[in-house]
Amino acid sequence: MPPRSDVLAPAASISRAQREARNGHRGTAVLLTGLPAAGKSTLAQALHAELFSRGQQSVVLDGDGLRVGLNRDLGFTDADRLENIRRASELAALLVENGQIVILAMIAPLVELREVFAQRLGDDYREVWCSAALAVCEQRDPKGHYARARRGELAGFTGVSAPYEPPAQASLVLDTGTLTVEACLDRLLTWLGESAVLPRT
Ligand SMILES: Nc1ncnc2c1ncn2[C@@H]1O[C@H](COP(=O)(O)OP(=O)(O)OP(=O)(O)O)[C@@H](O)[C@H]1O
Ligand SMILES: [Mg+2]
Repeated sequence: MPPRSDVLAPAASISRAQREARNGHRGTAVLLTGLPAAGKSTLAQALHAELFSRGQQSVVLDGDGLRVGLNRDLGFTDADRLENIRRASELAALLVENGQIVILAMIAPLVELREVFAQRLGDDYREVWCSAALAVCEQRDPKGHYARARRGELAGFTGVSAPYEPPAQASLVLDTGTLTVEACLDRLLTWLGESAVLPRT
């Protein structure tokens, strides 16, 4: 969609820099991408809880949560998957501008989709690949979706009947298939410190 020229976004009374100074950390968006059941939502909530306990500002945007609310009018066609990501990227940008660490837990299976985040968020975008292997994810299958997809009941299911393109340029790769949630969280926090999002402890 081309940028519109007939409406101007209003200026904010409090700047991003002011918010970040008060928060004591940067705003940024962190995408946790990976196969269904890789552990994205689990890790997102673990990070959110840890940041909350430290008094740091974060928000989780979970793919499933968006699909039951903001994006409930969207399905799984290519166009709808793209619109799903576009809305998430706009929401993330708004929240980052407000000083939040935005933790996106979304499959975002294609390079083309993740590129939407990269384009919209620029330096405020960080990609983490939750790289649990397909066999592990399929074994977990807490929602029973892999089983249904194998029976041919779910068309276009990522990992079975739709592709997952591994990120070539992920800032961080976490093997959520073999590492514990605690170990993944530990690595995420260290990396956020090294990336100058969080203050180094
Ligand atoms: N690091 C881990 N080690 C072992 N089990 C895990 C780990 N992370 C998550 N799990 C388990 O794997 C299952 C899937 O986790 P989760 O729901 O977080 O995946 P997801 O990537 O959000 O999946 P979806 O794309 O379907 O939303 C859950 O049963 C969860 O308890
Ligand atoms: Mg999830």
